[in-house]
Amino acid sequence: MTCQRLDGKALALQVREEIARRTEALKARGVTPGLAVILVGDDPASEIYVRNKGIACEKAGMRSVTVRLPAGTTQEELRARIEALNADPDIDGILVQLPLPAPLDERQALNAILPEKDVDGFHLLNAGRLLTGESAVVPCTPKGVMRLIRETGLDLSGREAVVVGRSNIVGKPMALLLMQSGCTVTVCHSKTRDLAAHTRRADVLVAAVGRPGIIRGDMVKPGAVVIDVGINRVDGKVVGDVAWDEVSSVAGWVTPVPGGVGPMTIAMLLENTVEIAERRA
Ligand code: GUN
Repeated sequence: MTCQRLDGKALALQVREEIARRTEALKARGVTPGLAVILVGDDPASEIYVRNKGIACEKAGMRSVTVRLPAGTTQEELRARIEALNADPDIDGILVQLPLPAPLDERQALNAILPEKDVDGFHLLNAGRLLTGESAVVPCTPKGVMRLIRETGLDLSGREAVVVGRSNIVGKPMALLLMQSGCTVTVCHSKTRDLAAHTRRADVLVAAVGRPGIIRGDMVKPGAVVIDVGINRVDGKVVGDVAWDEVSSVAGWVTPVPGGVGPMTIAMLLENTVEIAERRA
């Protein structure tokens, strides 16, 4: 079986065109979707992510606000900025870029966002809604991964899915979404004893650990859908968690890095923003 490249960049462009149309329709009704991104400190990777989010927002015709705060910002100052955005009628979505510099408490900051404006879906209430299957704002990366998997046309019902990584941002919501789609889900992590024994059983394998090339060719079931969420910098080059050369000769579908999940995360951020704005309208 030849392996197909799951092109997140191309799919994200399609999604973004549709979002631009929905944004135009909203503007015709007097509502301009607005996204506020809060960046605390000067982490260079976060700088790039935040800049890209702002550019994508403007390209879609939305209002983009970036709030830059110094690394020494206190928890109270951060809360006050979030509360001002909660009260701002022109802002639909609020995102606090993670990680926050120490000693700021991420959980406190995320829970200060109005759940209705929580465009990342990280507020406790949205996390709980996703867990219980109620209508929730779904975190952007897992949502984008589900859209990519759907592109393969694979019927997920009864399939074995393995998620490598148990973060709140990707691993846990990813496992919930796959379970809701009818998969039997295994979540592996740093304490998993025999990672390969699990991954070899996966019809759908999602790697989200941040370890370059940890998923090797002999860990993948022939024909599997392999989704690489990793973004690692090695010798100045961006690489994923999947050893592409090896895995692409075994799998049925693989996402590249860059150009796979990354562009879909941004597209889903825009989609979440426009959905919130449509509710306001
Ligand atoms: N840092 C890395 N990924 C994300 C994300 O999806 N949302 C936020 N807010 N911060 C991140």
